[in-house]
Amino acid sequence: MSKAITGFSKLTKEQKIEWIAKEYFSNPEEATALIKKYWNADQDLQKLHDEFIENTITNFYLPLGVAPNFIINDKKYTIPMATEESSVVAAASKAAKFWAKRGGFKATVINTEKIGQVHFIFNGSTEKLNTFFSNVKSKFFEGTDDLTKNMQKRGGGILDIELRDKTDSLSNYYQLHTTFETKDSMGANFINSCLEQFSKILKTEALAYEAFAEEEKDIQVIMSILSNYVPNCTVRAEVSCPVQELHEDTNISPMAFAEKFMTAVKIAEIEPFRAVTHNKGIMNGVDAVVVATGNDFRAVEAGVHAYASKDGHYSSLSHAKVENGIFTFWMEIPLALGTVGGLTTLHPLVKLSLEMLGKPSAQELMQIVAVAGLAQNFAALRSLTTTGIQQGHMKMHLMNILNQLQAGDHEKKQAVKHFEKNPVSHSAVADYLRDLRQINIDRIEEDFF
Ligand code: MEV
Repeated sequence: MSKAITGFSKLTKEQKIEWIAKEYFSNPEEATALIKKYWNADQDLQKLHDEFIENTITNFYLPLGVAPNFIINDKKYTIPMATEESSVVAAASKAAKFWAKRGGFKATVINTEKIGQVHFIFNGSTEKLNTFFSNVKSKFFEGTDDLTKNMQKRGGGILDIELRDKTDSLSNYYQLHTTFETKDSMGANFINSCLEQFSKILKTEALAYEAFAEEEKDIQVIMSILSNYVPNCTVRAEVSCPVQELHEDTNISPMAFAEKFMTAVKIAEIEPFRAVTHNKGIMNGVDAVVVATGNDFRAVEAGVHAYASKDGHYSSLSHAKVENGIFTFWMEIPLALGTVGGLTTLHPLVKLSLEMLGKPSAQELMQIVAVAGLAQNFAALRSLTTTGIQQGHMKMHLMNILNQLQAGDHEKKQAVKHFEKNPVSHSAVADYLRDLRQINIDRIEEDFF
């Protein structure tokens, strides 16, 4: 193993690439050329992207697709989606079109509360700590005035601070459990700055608190950080129509389809192995819009999956029912999103995506993202319970296989036509291309001789 490199972050971009290319690649020139091929010719744009993170060497492309024809609360949207998975945009577009003919999607923001916690250890009497907290609670608000005044102007700020006794689970462990309203920003920086200020206030006030014994004055703050679990920052997305209108190009009757669909959802409700995949399908839609709009998809993923376990076992996020002849399919998920701050004003394609969505507020974006997730889930369940997923999936994957096999444009066109009526698999495409190329060689030879 080679020695650890020191001062790597201080090297220029060129030097970093040179080191990596020499250290890890059998053909350093080829690796360097590939890395540089992805640089943007517009140097200002490249610099902007370089500065998003540390040690940037190049750009990593993800396709940005669009799914048109979404009707959400009677408003038309074309939804931008950044994803590498072949069938996601097509499935969303299909579901959007299907539901546009049936009144579209309805979405409602239920609540918008964010959470942050100061975790600390206090060696002393809980009763005294409670009294101390009641006495100094207002200091936490006053001491963060500078940080909160802009947020307050926008109608947000710190909602409440609660002292939570967690000593049943861990000796001497307490929290300042704080709730925030962050309006159109996701609020991570705002929340973390407030919490770090709280931890300073907590320590200072404890030191000065006369009723504390010496050992009680020394509060040990373990950490101050927002929580990505936001069960009170939730949105509901829903579609419904009379069962008879569920009919489209499926071979089963609308009622049989509804029954099968509901059973598929029930299975995801009771069976965690299925629930995880079911919810992954929802996240295919959610993440693609979250990424396109410059939001933190890891935060969203962590929060959504925790929410899927809120009743004590991991379960489906979506639900379906038929009542009085009406089929309803819905889900409720937590989403902490922002449409101002962070990448939203920095990344040009994020700005473009937000403009495409009509510059939504954070609440409107929560609705759009939840709808994209529900649409994706509907499309997946519809395929799974009727034709199976592979037919559509492999059709979309065809282009990836053709690219892997280095098919030319003309070959791609012929292959797409051929596989409209034939099942796609890697070997079937390879065989088809081999035969096609052989036919072409035979033709050339015939023409030549
Ligand atoms: C694939 O990315 C997503 C699905 O597996 C979701 C599901 O099974 O519901 C098709």
